[in-house]
Amino acid sequence: MTQLARPTNLDDALVLGIESSCDETAASVVRGGRVALSNVIASQHELHAEYRGVVPEIASRAHAERILPVIQAALRDAGIGPRDLHAVAIGNRPGLIGSLLVGVAAGKALAWSLDIPIVGVDHVQAHMYAGFLWRASGDASPSTAISAMPAIDAAFPALGLVVSGGHTALYRLESPTHVTKLGSTRDDAVGEAYDKCAALLELPFPGGPIVDKLAQAGNADRFDLPVSRLERESLDFSFSGLKTAVLYTLRGVPSHNGRGGTPAMDRTDQNIHDLCAAFQHACSRAITLKLQRAIEQNPDCGTLLAGGGVTANSLLRTRLAELCKASGVRLVIPAMEFCLDNGAMIAGLGHHTLAARAWAGDALSISASASSAPGAAPLRG
Ligand code: KG4
Ligand code: ZN
Repeated sequence: MTQLARPTNLDDALVLGIESSCDETAASVVRGGRVALSNVIASQHELHAEYRGVVPEIASRAHAERILPVIQAALRDAGIGPRDLHAVAIGNRPGLIGSLLVGVAAGKALAWSLDIPIVGVDHVQAHMYAGFLWRASGDASPSTAISAMPAIDAAFPALGLVVSGGHTALYRLESPTHVTKLGSTRDDAVGEAYDKCAALLELPFPGGPIVDKLAQAGNADRFDLPVSRLERESLDFSFSGLKTAVLYTLRGVPSHNGRGGTPAMDRTDQNIHDLCAAFQHACSRAITLKLQRAIEQNPDCGTLLAGGGVTANSLLRTRLAELCKASGVRLVIPAMEFCLDNGAMIAGLGHHTLAARAWAGDALSISASASSAPGAAPLRG
């Protein structure tokens, strides 16, 4: 464990965050755990589009090609050199193992050569930290902006909601890294459901942004799609029935003994808008239903930390804000650029982790894990 670069003032500490868990190669420099000085994201969407999903082998090769230019760009945009860094944070779990290893290897090499601490960060926990980040821009004063944001310590205990392409789960957090899972999806993640719905509609990958856009001009009441509730007290989710309902709406259902049955949907622009709107409505409702239960079951949690790619969704953002307002819960939700996978959330949570242990890093033998690893920073449940 190296401590050579322990900063005198933690608010000035510069941490480089590296993210490579799936199909985004990303790096960011964050000051004081809150202010993102840069946020470079090289997306691989075009490489995976024809497969309508992420191909692990293609993803790790692309990470290997992009990781160094992305790190260089993050340092350049932040206006610093590598020797100005006080630590390197790597997203080392959970994710695609071949992809994670690229970021981990780059981070370890950098930390070793600069003799600064390295810290491994859980990607899912980092999504829930992303709402604490602020982007430095123009003349705006970071201290004024951050003083208007919730203080990290005052936000706990908190509820957490992660809605992304790989995860859909509710958590209870005693601190940014002391996390207990309350419920999670039993089948598809909600982002995955968006991507599959888009594929059925022959829309491009990833599906979330385009379904969101088309839904703006749609009437959600045109189609009656199911909202999964599961058992009375359950905080789990299920999105596979919704996906199947979209399929049946598109293809139609044959009549049985001359009864029932529905025709295939005409793929007119308006029908597609309406189906996207109905799908988006059902997804948001399924999430807010469970969140409402979680709020009722955890009355001492005064904050909701929401994160993950689907928090970029326009309707979900509105519905979360409404529910939190009605429940007296403070909503901490990322700015748009920190919703999707990014290095800033890794740097921010890495800073917090190091600060809590006197800036002592992990051993250089740290590796990657496809699942949330027990041990270093547990994700309980
Ligand atoms: O957090 P993220 O970048 O990666 C994972 O950790 O999985 O989330 C990616 C997911 C994709 O499934 C994408 O379709 C979805 O987030 N997404 C959206 C929107 N923007 C991205 N889903 C709904 N509405 C959006 N506006
Ligand atoms: Zn993610």
